[in-house]
Amino acid sequence: MMDIVDTGVEGLNTMLGGGIPGGSSTLVLGSYGAGKTTMGIHFAHRGVTLGENVVYFTLEERKESIILASKSYRKDLTPYLERNLFLLNPDPVEFVQMLKTEGNFKSSIENIKPRRIVLDSISLILMVAESDVLRRNVIINLSNALRDLGVTSLLLAESSVTNPYSSRDGLAEFVSDGVIALQNRYDDNLGSTTSIIRVLKMRLTNHDRKARPYSIGSNGMEILAKSELFQ
Ligand SMILES: Nc1ncnc2c1ncn2[C@@H]1O[C@H](COP(=O)(O)OP(=O)(O)OP(=O)(O)O)[C@@H](O)[C@H]1O
Ligand SMILES: [Mg+2]
Repeated sequence: MMDIVDTGVEGLNTMLGGGIPGGSSTLVLGSYGAGKTTMGIHFAHRGVTLGENVVYFTLEERKESIILASKSYRKDLTPYLERNLFLLNPDPVEFVQMLKTEGNFKSSIENIKPRRIVLDSISLILMVAESDVLRRNVIINLSNALRDLGVTSLLLAESSVTNPYSSRDGLAEFVSDGVIALQNRYDDNLGSTTSIIRVLKMRLTNHDRKARPYSIGSNGMEILAKSELFQ
């Protein structure tokens, strides 16, 4: 039977019929503040509490800020730092250099034997890569390395300004096994914001096709997986 990985977000597990397929890579799309990092923290926290080795690459925020956020969601990652959590803050330019060839990235982390990887964010890496050819190679090398490592990964990406269901670069969705979109919808008349999550694609999974509301609070991300939205 296929191995199913608990995402650490209950409602998302419900939407996916248990979790994401083990060994797959999932793109998490969203604009600023939508909750990509929050979902990454849930995923990492669930992994480390299960005793798995987890690598979290934070390219946009400092390590301290990820730790602070984890505490504010009651998912404190501190106790795992000396154990099975590898919170890494590489230089984006060096990270891209490493991804120019497939082997370098793989060999840099295979000793850790990670079960989960969070890449926060893939958008920043693609922003640093200076040509279309390089961007494409980086994506392909990353995807191959993740597959070879057999690791389950979340790749966090900025959504396109014009299309919330596509990444800004329009690249990573083609090599990802799954795509999840987080969206803040602003209603200027009501002055309110509704956050919705959709599973756009998940290989090997009969996932929920509906948009569901979610909120971020003192327990982190909470999805109302059974709740219908008025669209
Ligand atoms: N402790 C907290 N309690 C409640 N809500 C919080 C808390 N911390 C953050 N938030 C909310 O979560 C949002 C930030 O989410 P997050 O950092 O996960 O977004 P992101 O998609 O990673 O954004 P970016 O593109 O800027 O990295 C904030 O805008 C805020 O609304
Ligand atoms: Mg973030």
